[in-house]
Order: sequence, then C-alpha cells, then structure tokens
Amino acid sequence: MRKIKVGVVGLGYWGPNLIRNFYRHEGFEMVWGCDLLEKNLINIKKDYPFLKLTRNFQDLLSDKSLDLIAVATPPETHYNLGEKVLMSKKHLWIEKPFTTSLNLAKKLFLLAQKNHCYLHVDFPFIFYSPVQKIKELVEKKKIGTPYYYTSLRTNLGLIQKEIDVIWDLAPHDLSILLYLFPKLKPIKVYSAGSQHLKNYHKKQVANLVINFNNNFTAYIYLSWLSPIKMRLITLVGSKKMVLFDDIDPVEKIKVYDKELRVEKNKITPFNPIYRNGDITIPYIDNREEALYKQINFLFENLNRKIFKYYTGEIAINILDILGKIEYK
Ligand SMILES: NC(=O)c1ccc[n+]([C@@H]2O[C@H](COP(=O)([O-])OP(=O)(O)OC[C@H]3O[C@@H](n4cnc5c(N)ncnc54)[C@H](O)[C@@H]3O)[C@@H](O)[C@H]2O)c1
Repeated sequence: MRKIKVGVVGLGYWGPNLIRNFYRHEGFEMVWGCDLLEKNLINIKKDYPFLKLTRNFQDLLSDKSLDLIAVATPPETHYNLGEKVLMSKKHLWIEKPFTTSLNLAKKLFLLAQKNHCYLHVDFPFIFYSPVQKIKELVEKKKIGTPYYYTSLRTNLGLIQKEIDVIWDLAPHDLSILLYLFPKLKPIKVYSAGSQHLKNYHKKQVANLVINFNNNFTAYIYLSWLSPIKMRLITLVGSKKMVLFDDIDPVEKIKVYDKELRVEKNKITPFNPIYRNGDITIPYIDNREEALYKQINFLFENLNRKIFKYYTGEIAINILDILGKIEYK
C-alpha cells in the first residue's frame, strides 16, 4: 500500500515531535520539513538527512505527491497556512488551539469538508493513557455524579507572541473535559489574569472558571510564570475522587474512595458525613506515546470513506468556550 506523504511546517519546539512520530509510523512517509529559520532546518537535517527542506511553504503546496501537511507554527498563522493547505486539497493536521477565533475555525472546518480533506487538530491528552483511564472510570460510573474539575498547569514559559496563557494552555484541559464528558455545555465562563513582564502584554497568569450544565464546574489555573512545572488535575464526584499528577513518573492516577454528604434528620438538620475509604492506584499501560497514538488515529481516519472530524469538532467547542470568557 502507498504510504501517506507528509510535510511538517514549523520546526520550532513542537514540529520535530511530529516528524519523529510520523517517521515511526509505517503508514506515513516523512517528505518535507519547512521553517522560516535556517537554524531549525539545519537542526532537523541532523536527525532526518533524507528530508526535503525549505523555508518556502509554497514548495510543499506545489508538491502534487504530498498528501498531508502538519502545521506547527504559532497560532496566529494557523488560519492562513491551514486555508492554503485545504485549498490545495491536501489533508491538514493543525496544532491546538486550531485558530485564534471561532469564526476562523468554522471557516477551516467547512473548507475541509467541502474539499473532502481530513482535518485533525492536535490534542494529545485525549490519546494519553492516564486520561483514557479516567474516562474508563467515568464511563463505568465509578466516580458517581461528577461535581467539579480542577487543574494546575504551570511552568516557566514557553510563552507565545500573540495569544495569552489561557489560549495557549486551556485547550489541553478543555480537550480533556470534552473527551471525558462529551455532553458538557458551558453556561458561564469567567477569568481573572495578570501580566507582569515589560514589553510583553499578554496575560502570563490566569484563573479560568467554567460553569457547565448539570452543576459541573471547572477551575483551571494556568501560568507561564512559575518556578515549577505542575500538571495536577482533580476530578471530584459524588462517590470517588480522582487525582492525576502528570509529573509523577509512575503513580500518575490515584482514586480516592472518599465522600462528603450532608444528611438531615429530626434531631439535627445539619449532619455532615465524611467517608474515607481506600486509595487505589490503577495500572496504566503508558508505553506508547500519546502523539503516536494520535497519528495512528489519523491514519485510521484517512483510510475511512467518510471522515469523522472528531478532533475538529472538539476544537470548535473549545474555541466556543474561550470566546465566551468574561474577563474580570
Ligand atoms: N499539542 C501540543 O501538546 C503542543 C505542544 C506545544 C506546542 N503546540 C502548538 O504548536 C504550535 C507551535 O508551537 P511551538 O511551541 O513549536 O512554537 P515555536 O515558536 O517554537 O515554533 C514555531 C516555528 O514556526 C516557524 N514559522 C512561523 N511561521 C512560519 C511560516 N509561515 N512558514 C514556515 N515556518 C514558520 C517559526 O520560524 C518557528 O520555528 C502552536 O500552535 C502551539 O500551541 C502544541
């Protein structure tokens, strides 16, 4: 079977990870790498000497044999580059947050469908074994009624030029939430954030609170200006509470059999009951990189007659939530 020929545009931090995983997958053939900066082309050449390299994106568009272009450039460039990919009738892999507005995202989505091209938006957490384990717990109704979600997502950088910390990092949490709970609908979205650096006016620290339907709430704290890297998520339900610490190399998920409820009776109308049970650490098969699993998902999709734009739909729902933010 003919391999799917791939070009990657944007060889800064993330693009080389795409190349590494496309290269590993036997359904794909890595053909082109493209970046405006010569130094990034020189770097990638060391590991992939066979790659055709260019600073001119047009070279990829003009290559009739190229099937798919992955766009890993800064978000403000996604729409223009993505539109050109789809106009040249090539499949499009595009980085989160997809585009910088809901309108632009919808345009690309429609263009992909019109031109019979597949559109994949990169959300690695959906394909990440610990998150898939949480999904399994949710689906088996182990956590009971979901109450709320918290996330601490901090590090020093990597800052983006044209989008703030919310647009850069919140898509990760929102992709997790929409994957775990596909029927979530945002009701109110608030944010308070701050900027501290001279000559750079995008928020570097922010809190995001999202009230969803069914009284489910997400509290997301994001920072590019933190001394330590934290990736700590809790999901609290009526029966169990889940802690996901992505920094922990082994015990990433802990399930706490804990419960708090308040009961009324005739003697005392306020009778809080605290239940403290076992803490379990489920086994997680985390041998395969989430990005590779995602590339395999793309491969399977490309082999269907009718595309399912699953990650594109998630991206649009995420941009809808980000567009609803009321800034305090
Ligand atoms: N999926 C993930 O987990 C994940 C992780 C990190 C970054 N990202 C996303 O990947 C994208 C890139 O982020 P990054 O951190 O790699 O940025 P980066 O700044 O390190 O790299 C972007 C590269 O794109 C190049 N570029 C810009 N415009 C170009 C053009 N027209 N033609 C060719 N090259 C061009 C730049 O020269 C730069 O080298 C962003 O959308 C970001 O949100 C995703």
